[in-house]
Amino acid sequence: MALWGGRFIGESNKLFKKFNTSLSFDYILAQEDITASIAWSKILMKSNILSKKEQITIEHALVELLKEIKINSKNILLSDCEDIHSWVEEQLINKIGELGKKLHTGRSRNDQITTDLKLWCRKIIDILLDNLIKLQIRFIILAEANKNVIMPGYTHLQRAQPITFAYWCLAYVEMLKRDVSRLKNILKRLNISPLGSGALSGTAWNIDREELAVSLGFHSATNNALDSVSDRDYVIELLSTASISMMHLSRFSEDIIFFNSGEANFIELSDAITSGSSLMPQKKNPDALELIRSKCGRVYGSLMSILVILKSLPLSYNKDMQEDKEGLFDAIKTWNNCLCMTILVLKNIKIKHDICRQAAEAGYANATEIADYLVKKGLTFREAHKISGQIVLHAIKLHQPLHSLTLSIFHIYSNLIEDDIYKHITLESCLLKRISKGGVAPYQVDQEIITAKKRLNIF
Ligand code: ARG
Repeated sequence: MALWGGRFIGESNKLFKKFNTSLSFDYILAQEDITASIAWSKILMKSNILSKKEQITIEHALVELLKEIKINSKNILLSDCEDIHSWVEEQLINKIGELGKKLHTGRSRNDQITTDLKLWCRKIIDILLDNLIKLQIRFIILAEANKNVIMPGYTHLQRAQPITFAYWCLAYVEMLKRDVSRLKNILKRLNISPLGSGALSGTAWNIDREELAVSLGFHSATNNALDSVSDRDYVIELLSTASISMMHLSRFSEDIIFFNSGEANFIELSDAITSGSSLMPQKKNPDALELIRSKCGRVYGSLMSILVILKSLPLSYNKDMQEDKEGLFDAIKTWNNCLCMTILVLKNIKIKHDICRQAAEAGYANATEIADYLVKKGLTFREAHKISGQIVLHAIKLHQPLHSLTLSIFHIYSNLIEDDIYKHITLESCLLKRISKGGVAPYQVDQEIITAKKRLNIF
């Protein structure tokens, strides 16, 4: 059923009809469209546009429809309606006849669609928040279990300084914490109701939009109808948060893929999330992580797409805006799937303590400690850095770690070096010294775990 037949004499071209329809993807907004329609019917009754009896009849029919779509929402796809709004109205009219035609009084699909979409985003943000929290909990559990696992930390993918596996986990907790705060922030701006904005200039009926907003769980109604029907900032914000979070997941994936490589061999991924090769029987590939890493690009694509769609688009509603949904739905589903998959990866990961430690010991990751040691003995850092570099070069030539060098070798480069050098350059000492806030010292890591557990309510 088209909602706009009167002005037209000719038939729609079949190809155009197909091109124009959004039902194939906006059908997932059915629940939101019905919920908003029920709220609209109530406010129409308050404004004496519907009688109490009429409102009840409409509400009953819509509730029935809601039940039907909960059983099978895919049935909607059998219809040839233009969009979900037309479909709900058609179903209502099928159920209660002429009375159903009153529901659209004072309303436009322009304010309807953005109301539905905001309701959907709100619902989905709750699910995403939940998974972001679950993932943080997983990282904390893993951190607690691996507080003493020393491994190399990298810059430029070169072994740089020792860290612990727990510390690495906590870095991701920080990123996820920022993702949560971004999502909560979006909610503040998103949770304002555009319903009752009409097509672009407000509704001509005496409607209490604030009351309507609150009845739908929004904290207030929007201020300017022209802006309300044009606004898709919340879609951009949500996609931008999705993109940032996917970037975090993709960096996590890259780290894990490297840790899992034959070269690093720090961890073992479970059979549950890896796959084999059709040719090489020895292979166990980190497919889950490679997919997360790549799906990040797909989410960026959706963000780019909505940014470009809205650029230079005149106020207010233009059909261009129908193109906001597929990208948004796909990106959110992708992000959520990747969050769930990351949880699964962490649940089943095995950390190889000894190999991690050996790697930390082997890569001259304690060279900074020699420089700091010499600074304590009175050299400037620049001078100390040069001497430590020469010592590292000497050790590389001998194929030895720094702690195996004899004192006489150290003395070639500086007489300030004494016997206590050896305890300064142990991995444990490297960690212990970094006790200031944010450092890798076990005390700081413990504190971070305690704070995170309190914040996440895990005991
Ligand atoms: N399917 C449309 C969309 O997704 C709904 C709004 C249509 N409004 C209109 N004036 N044609 O944007």
